[in-house]
Order: sequence, then C-alpha cells, then structure tokens
Amino acid sequence: MKIDILTLFPEMFENVFSSSIIKRAVDEEKVEINIHNFREYSKDPHHKVDDTPYGGGSGMVLTCQPIFDCVESLKTKDSLTILLTPDGIPYKQEIAYNLATKKHIILICGHYEGFDERIRSICDMELSIGDYVLTGGELASMVITDSIVRLLPGVIEQASHQNDSFNNNLLDYPTYTKPRNFRGLEVPSVLLSGDHKKIEEYRKNESIKRTQERRPDLLEK
Ligand code: ADE
Repeated sequence: MKIDILTLFPEMFENVFSSSIIKRAVDEEKVEINIHNFREYSKDPHHKVDDTPYGGGSGMVLTCQPIFDCVESLKTKDSLTILLTPDGIPYKQEIAYNLATKKHIILICGHYEGFDERIRSICDMELSIGDYVLTGGELASMVITDSIVRLLPGVIEQASHQNDSFNNNLLDYPTYTKPRNFRGLEVPSVLLSGDHKKIEEYRKNESIKRTQERRPDLLEK
C-alpha cells in the first residue's frame, strides 16, 4: 500500500512514522508513506497557498491550484483521495478495515480557517476523526494512517487485532499479566483455570458488560 499525505507542515510528521510499528512496516516495505508539501506546487510567485474569502469574512482560505496540481501529480486509477475535515463522515474502525484493502490513499490536510469548497470535488471521501476542531488535518491524517497500517497483512499478528475494541461493535475484554496478585489486586481465577471454553465465555461476557456500561450506543447497532 502507498499513502501520500498533502500538508503545509511536513515537519510535523518527522517522528510519527519513524518509530515503533509504523516504522517497522515502512522498513519491511509493507507500506510506503510519502509527505508532500503542497506549497511546492503553488504557481504563485511567492508560493502563496491561501487567499481571502469571496463575500468577505475573517481568515484565509486554501486555494484550489496547489492542491489540485499536487493531487493530479499523484493520482492513478487505484487512488482513493480523502479530505480531512471536521465536517467529514465520522471515522470508525470499520472504515479503517475498508481503507486497509486499498492500494493507494491520498490524504489532504486542510489548514488555516478553511479551504476552497471546490477542493471537495477532487475527493472520493471526507473524514472527521471526532466532533472537535483541530488546527489542521495533520493529526487526523496521522491517526488514520496509524489505524490503517496496523491492519495491513503481516504488520501485527492477525490475532492481536481480531479482538480489538469495536470489532463486532464490542469493546475489548480486560487482560492481565504476571504477577497473579499485585498489591492485593487479584487476577480473575477463571483466567488461571486452563479451561479455554470457560475463558472464552468469561471474555465474551466481560466484553458485553463493558460495552453496556461504557458504550451502550454500540450495542444498539
Ligand atoms: N481538521 C480539523 N479538525 C478535524 C477533525 N476533527 N477531523 C479531521 N480533520 C480535521
């Protein structure tokens, strides 16, 4: 898979994809991640990428030309172009699973007070990572990239994400490791029983209980 990210702040990405699981996936060529500063595509003599809004109002608006040209230079028949914006559809684990099957994803990070509406016309999808407004799409693009890359074949063990929270609309069950007793806090005895059927049942029940308590909205689905 290839992920191309369009941003005005490439330096924000320097450490994010060069550590831990994402770095390993890049090193093992499971994914190629490229950061593009779309200012470099600006045809303005001063490499301007924004302008004042028609009709008046405060703030500067990202112009079409640099983003259109940058996307056009990257796009192939296999590309899925995604705009990160607070008014996009809410990002969910099931979308991550779907995106993990794509060959090429282009992520466009908006910034400043907004972007020219016509930029939406070159996008296949618009995503929001939550009901809050960030200073730009950069953090959103990192969140989305991270959640996709961990699902790619061979990046982490399949079994590790089969039980992820949100699979089957259930939150994850509780897990424990050694010691059996830590400062009086005991590991549930069923997990020490060696009875795999009972353990599976316990985990399923805990998963449902936790979802009922914390995210009843998921169970309604
Ligand atoms: N850009 C600004 N806020 C955002 C959000 N919540 N999700 C995606 N992109 C954004």
